[in-house]
Amino acid sequence: MRQPLVAGNWKMNGSLDSVTALIEGIQAGLDTVSTAEMAVCPPFVYIPRVAGLLEGSGISLGAQDVNDQESGAHTGEVAPGMLTDIGCRYVIVGHSERRSIYGESDEFTARKFAAARKAGLVPILCVGETLEEREEGVTEQVVARQLDAVIDLEGIGAIGECVIAYEPVWAIGTGKTATPDQAQEVHAFIRGKLATLDTDVADKVRILYGGSMNPGNAADLLAMADIDGGLIGGASLKPEDFLDIGRAGNA
Ligand code: 13P
Repeated sequence: MRQPLVAGNWKMNGSLDSVTALIEGIQAGLDTVSTAEMAVCPPFVYIPRVAGLLEGSGISLGAQDVNDQESGAHTGEVAPGMLTDIGCRYVIVGHSERRSIYGESDEFTARKFAAARKAGLVPILCVGETLEEREEGVTEQVVARQLDAVIDLEGIGAIGECVIAYEPVWAIGTGKTATPDQAQEVHAFIRGKLATLDTDVADKVRILYGGSMNPGNAADLLAMADIDGGLIGGASLKPEDFLDIGRAGNA
C-alpha cells in the first residue's frame, strides 16, 4: 500500500510572518489528516524558520530546487548537502517552471536528481507535457523522455526511492485541472513503463498529480488507482485548502 503524499510547493511566495502563520494554520488542523503524509517546500530562505516550526510535527520538509554540484563556484546556487544540513527530506527537481523559464534540460534535471540522492535527499521528479504537446498527441513520448533521462543516468532502482509528480504544464496555475481520467491515464502509463523495467519499483513508487489541485477536485483525483497524492501550488498557501486536500486522502 502506498501512503499518499500531499506536498505544498509554495513557489516564490511568502514572508517570515506569512510562512509562520501558514505553518501554524496547518498544524492546527493536522490531526484531521489521518492517512496522507504532508510536506511543505518553502523558498530556500524560509526553510530554516519552517524547520524550527515543524519540529516534532510529523510534517515533512522539502526544497523547490537544488544544484547538481556538491560545492564550489556557483554563485547563487544551493547544494544538495546544504539542504540535508538544514533538515530537508525532499527536493523538487525538474519542475516545469525550471524547465521552461530557466531552460533546464532533461539531462541537467537528471544530474540534479543524482546529486540530490547522493546527499540523502528524496527527489520529487516532475514530468509533464505542454498544451501544444498534448494537442500533438505526444504526451506519452514527452513523459517517457523526461523519465528516461533519469533512468539512463541513475538506473531503475533509483526511481523506487524517489517520488514522481505528473504535472501537465497546461494545468499549472491555470485553474484548468486534468480530469481524473486524463490524469489516471498518464499515471498508469508511467507505472506501466516502469513495470517493464522493474515491477517492484513500479508498485512502490508514489506518483503525485500536480496542476490546479484544490479542495473541490482532490477527492476524485486521489480516488484514482495510480494517483498517490498531490503536488500543490496555489492551494498550499491556504492552510484550510491544503488541509482539505490532505483530508481528501483519508482512508
Ligand atoms: P498549482 O497548484 O498552483 O496549479 O501549481 C501546481 C504546481 O506547479 C505544483 O508544483
